[in-house]
Amino acid sequence: MSFVDLEDIRVSYDGKNNILKDLNLSIEKGELVSLLGPSGCGKTTTLRVIAGLIEPNDGAFSVDGANLTKVPVHKRNFGMVFQSYALFPHLTIKENVGFGLKLRKESKETIHKKVMEMLEVTGLADYADRYPKQLSGGQRQRVALARALVIEPKLLLLDEPLSNLDAKLRINMRLEIKKIQQRLGITSVFVTHDQEECFSISDKVAVMNQGVIEQFDTPEVIYNHPKTEFVARFIGFENFFDLTLVDDHTYAAGDGSLFKTAHTWETTQKVGTIRPEDITILSKQSGPAVNTIPGTVKVRTFLGKSYQYEVETPIGKLLVQDSDETTYTSGDEVSLYISEEKLILV
Ligand SMILES: Nc1ncnc2c1ncn2[C@@H]1O[C@H](COP(=O)(O)OP(=O)(O)O)[C@@H](O)[C@H]1O
Ligand SMILES: [Mg+2]
Repeated sequence: MSFVDLEDIRVSYDGKNNILKDLNLSIEKGELVSLLGPSGCGKTTTLRVIAGLIEPNDGAFSVDGANLTKVPVHKRNFGMVFQSYALFPHLTIKENVGFGLKLRKESKETIHKKVMEMLEVTGLADYADRYPKQLSGGQRQRVALARALVIEPKLLLLDEPLSNLDAKLRINMRLEIKKIQQRLGITSVFVTHDQEECFSISDKVAVMNQGVIEQFDTPEVIYNHPKTEFVARFIGFENFFDLTLVDDHTYAAGDGSLFKTAHTWETTQKVGTIRPEDITILSKQSGPAVNTIPGTVKVRTFLGKSYQYEVETPIGKLLVQDSDETTYTSGDEVSLYISEEKLILV
């Protein structure tokens, strides 16, 4: 049993369609786990089950060995941060952060001490007596974070907390969140549809698709070894082609060309895939005999740091991203090298 356990959670809003389908997730104490997936896949619904905002139709939710499935939201002692910070406009930052403690009828001194500590942790000490409208978006989101943390929650839940901030601030804030989360050792669930954000901040990532978790692992494993085509596509893989096992670690593509792989795959994994930036583009007929496929450049696009080529090959159109000095133009005959190391099967 882990610190947080979701077991066979099923949620249906209308009694017909299951939005979460026997979802299972285990989180260890102190971990930051992200739910990553496209809009509508059920991330917020999962977080609402954890928060106690909705009760699942089936399944169990427990924290620290206690079954909380039917425990209402206000008795769970979880901190929550949402996309919209929802601060009280007529209360100062200090009062906003202390609101939850006041509800609990803690003493004035205790509230002051805890609030000031949390404002210190979140870098807001200088803003204690200001009002929300006098702060920037990033500062307001930090107030929301301070407010969630000051109650010393068992779990911190964050639902796309950075999506209202501009790109640069988002990167700063995710680092801030990670630092604070680590410093306080607080078990956290972070919802996002942004893979870069998710990989940078998480100890583990649960990639969701239509109400199920397709893969749950560290960012490194998911980035390098997606298990399914859905996960691969979601994290930047392109170039999917059918393969048949012909020999030890050797597969044949539809046109008979051979691909060796450095990894061991299950027999059910028969679709080869590779990221555009992992394909090497070479002039025609260079490169080794295996793992190389001829092609014709169709389209070249300038991406700033590199070029993207769309190349017609006997196994289909392949996308290649290359930053080499040598460039190719439409109509050029080339060879594409797909390394044993980078070829993934899903
Ligand atoms: N209150 C609700 N009533 C009916 N359907 C809902 C409700 N909330 C969400 N849904 C549906 O459930 C699915 C998952 O939604 P949600 O969990 O919000 O996804 P995500 O957060 O991943 O974008 C969507 O198809 C959405 O339309
Ligand atoms: Mg959502």
